[in-house]
Amino acid sequence: MIALNSHLFLVIAALAGCFMSGERTPAEAGQELTPPSELALMMRHMAAHADSVKAALSRGDGLPAYPKEFKGLMQAEPTKGMHIDPITFPTFAKDYQLKLDELYKVQPAKRQQAYNALVQGCANCHGSHCPGPLMRIKKMYMATEE
Ligand code: HEC
Repeated sequence: MIALNSHLFLVIAALAGCFMSGERTPAEAGQELTPPSELALMMRHMAAHADSVKAALSRGDGLPAYPKEFKGLMQAEPTKGMHIDPITFPTFAKDYQLKLDELYKVQPAKRQQAYNALVQGCANCHGSHCPGPLMRIKKMYMATEE
């Protein structure tokens, strides 16, 4: 019984990042029970990168430096106990990376569209893997003038 309870606790703690909206106050971040996984940390950087792309595009500025570290997405260690689907995760990860490359390749006039496609790539994987951040992801799209 004790073993079962502690196992349950670990699973709940491990999945917390996926159930929370992804918007944390610094105080909450300091209260984390376990350090975030390599994958969770990369996700925070991916979210911060996308936010800075959006901010730059709305200001009419150039893109932030290309984030080479996201090439390691498929190798990053997930939170213990988290189910990573062996077929869909690498498929969505590759799709995200292609959309990221596309964003840096297209003409400046097409960047908003490419950015929205990238955010769609986040949403696609989160639809099957970690639904918590979906609300935050949905707010990341840019309104495009057609
Ligand atoms: C290939 C699948 C995939 C893609 C693409 C993806 N995510 Fe994630 N995301 C995950 C998984 C799986 C986790 C849980 C990671 C863990 O806990 O180890 C996660 C976790 C997160 C978290 C919570 C991190 C934390 O603090 O625990 C946020 C926020 C997030 N993703 C946002 C994004 C954003 C924004 C994008 C696009 C820029 C994105 N994700 C793209 C699969 C993906």
